[in-house]
Amino acid sequence: MKILFVGDVVGSPGRGMIHDYLPMLKQKYRPECTIVNGENAAAGRGITEKIYKQFLQDGADAVTLGNHSWDNKEIFEFIDSAQRLVRPANFPEGTPGKGLVYVKQGGVETAVINVQGRTFMPALDCPFQKLENLVKEARQRTPIIFVDVHAEATSEKQAIGWFLDGKVSAVIGTHTHVQTADNRILPKGTAYLTDVGMTGPYDGVLGMEKTAVLKKFLTSLPVRFEVPKSGRSQLSGCVIELDRKTGLAQSIDRILINGDHPFIAE
Ligand SMILES: [Fe+2]
Ligand SMILES: [Fe+2]
Repeated sequence: MKILFVGDVVGSPGRGMIHDYLPMLKQKYRPECTIVNGENAAAGRGITEKIYKQFLQDGADAVTLGNHSWDNKEIFEFIDSAQRLVRPANFPEGTPGKGLVYVKQGGVETAVINVQGRTFMPALDCPFQKLENLVKEARQRTPIIFVDVHAEATSEKQAIGWFLDGKVSAVIGTHTHVQTADNRILPKGTAYLTDVGMTGPYDGVLGMEKTAVLKKFLTSLPVRFEVPKSGRSQLSGCVIELDRKTGLAQSIDRILINGDHPFIAE
């Protein structure tokens, strides 16, 4: 079976790419489970119910989040009823939402986990301990477990990859918005990629309008970053093939669609 994952969707350019390309990607790869990280979907910060529902309509089976989960206050109105929305599992006890969601599609059940790193990021509960408990829990139900590690430091992501090798189907990084080229199957059978990359503006800085970012670097003055309203867009993702009985991965390929890498249907 296959899992298709698309990284951090940024604003309306990113949402446009999901709408335009997700159906074609699903046609090409025929995944049993499709996951989209939507932490930047609403103007670069957070997500709304309308956007969440549009992702499901465009073909996502689950939507993961990250450090921007609460940036759009609308989330507090719908997170309790959003069955396919996954926020970082290691937020403090009592935080709204879930860090582990099960998606049943085509006769197979996939456990989708979202966890946030702690290096160069806000202090949260230990992602390793949280993962150990959640993976144990998920394995009672299904061997197919997908982990979105939303973290800044490559070292922390790699460490989580080794920590979960052989216990989950895939450990895929998000948050840094630039796709890394280190996709591999770890020795015990877990697919790994440090960062899947961002889906949104192609000619900005991590999805934000570049003039404002440059001003910030050049002057250190406070600047509000915005998602560009026009220009070229990109989509970053990956597709993982795995054994549905063991949950272990057989291959992981990166997907990149942008002005320099056109989409190839077959
Ligand atoms: Fe992001
Ligand atoms: Fe993030």
